[in-house]
Amino acid sequence: MSVPEKRVKTRIDPYVDAYAGRTQGLKASAVRALFAVANRPEVVSLAGGMPNISDLPLDVIGDVLDELVRSRGPQIMNYGSAQGEERIREQICEVMSLEGVNASPDDIIVSCGSQQALDLVTRTFVDPGDVVLAEAPSYVGALGTFAAYQAQVVQVAMDENGILPEAFRAATTAARAAGRKVKFLYTIPNFNNPSGILMSIERRRELLAAARELDVLIVEDNPYGLLAIDVPPQPAIRSMDAEQVIYLGSFSKTFAPGFRVGWALAPSPVLKKLVLAQESATLCPPVFSQFAVSEYLSHWDWRAQIEDFRAMYTQRRDAMLRGLEDHMPAGTTWTHPVGGFFVWVTLPEGFDADQMSARATSHRVAYVPGSAFYADGLGSRNMRLSYCFPTPERIYEGTRRLGETLREEMELRSTFGFMSSSTARRLPSGAHQDKSRTTSRSTGNPLNTSQPTGGD
Ligand SMILES: Cc1ncc(COP(=O)(O)O)c(C=O)c1O
Repeated sequence: MSVPEKRVKTRIDPYVDAYAGRTQGLKASAVRALFAVANRPEVVSLAGGMPNISDLPLDVIGDVLDELVRSRGPQIMNYGSAQGEERIREQICEVMSLEGVNASPDDIIVSCGSQQALDLVTRTFVDPGDVVLAEAPSYVGALGTFAAYQAQVVQVAMDENGILPEAFRAATTAARAAGRKVKFLYTIPNFNNPSGILMSIERRRELLAAARELDVLIVEDNPYGLLAIDVPPQPAIRSMDAEQVIYLGSFSKTFAPGFRVGWALAPSPVLKKLVLAQESATLCPPVFSQFAVSEYLSHWDWRAQIEDFRAMYTQRRDAMLRGLEDHMPAGTTWTHPVGGFFVWVTLPEGFDADQMSARATSHRVAYVPGSAFYADGLGSRNMRLSYCFPTPERIYEGTRRLGETLREEMELRSTFGFMSSSTARRLPSGAHQDKSRTTSRSTGNPLNTSQPTGGD
């Protein structure tokens, strides 16, 4: 298509009048925006959430794929079912049984990563202006999907046990009083991205009771559940109720994200809609990938592989917590995740994690500013740190560089009067200086932001 000459001359983007309204809510993910900087070898990236899959048995996977193509190439390289291949749906049931979910393969749809399952669910339920409830803070990729469908996202406060049922009730009531439809509550109960918080079992029950009472569906997003560290895998909310919950799962963290295989488990009527949505979106999820994941699951001890991943992530998590303990200044708090990939840091008063990001880069460390995980600009005093990818030594070094960044920022702020000098004086100059810093576990709400976290 050629662009009319007048448009080319007068507009930076000559197509601006043609875009659909829904594109106005789309913005580059803060995580992806950091990629170029964070991927430079001299930078320790605590930003991206890329799983460390270097210990996967590549030779075994290579042999399996080789055999698969030779023996069944014409089938696995063709179109398939919109719902996904039956064998992998059966295997998915086996995977979910580790978290207490009892499901039939008929109630599962395979998707292109769980990200696409979330897209299908959102396109199935959300009209522009409908309310979607989510934790405060919540996964940046989900916020992007909700924005793409012009949902109004209302974020609901959490404490160290997960989302607060009372805040959920209040947000739902307020939205309905304002004439809005509340379509679902999106939650990441296991090691929430970005906060790392694990929803307690009691809280899961309470949340479910509130959802039933309010008649609000729960969308349970669970890519990290099997990567529990100090605790056993927790019972999924879906294991407690098959009708009130749509469950999203993924092989991205327990196997490999490159195959892009995830799924949704939904009540039968919803599943039918999701299959129709999948047909219009992609015709069918990638058949080759589904067979590849199926073969991996049947030829390799994937449970033992997950145990290895858990041990590897434990070392990385420990390196990060040790580094934060050694290098963070007084007044900084952080969560202590027992699984998943992330630690959520709250900076002392006066800090702005968005503004500090460039300074961190000059100290050769990268993080994701907390505001990325709020739909409304909160989280300026927060950072998400990932411990999944770099080696434990690099993670520790990254926290040292972060400490340096904070020290410099504090000195500057105290010089220019943005911060009390007594706060600046309490900064550690060496790794093991005695500090009066408390961590979030001992100080109540681990999500302490500079502004209230509730959406109501
Ligand atoms: C909470 C959450 N949900 C969904 C996804 C998407 O995962 P997938 O690779 O399965 O699309 C991610 C990826 O990081 C995530 O953190």
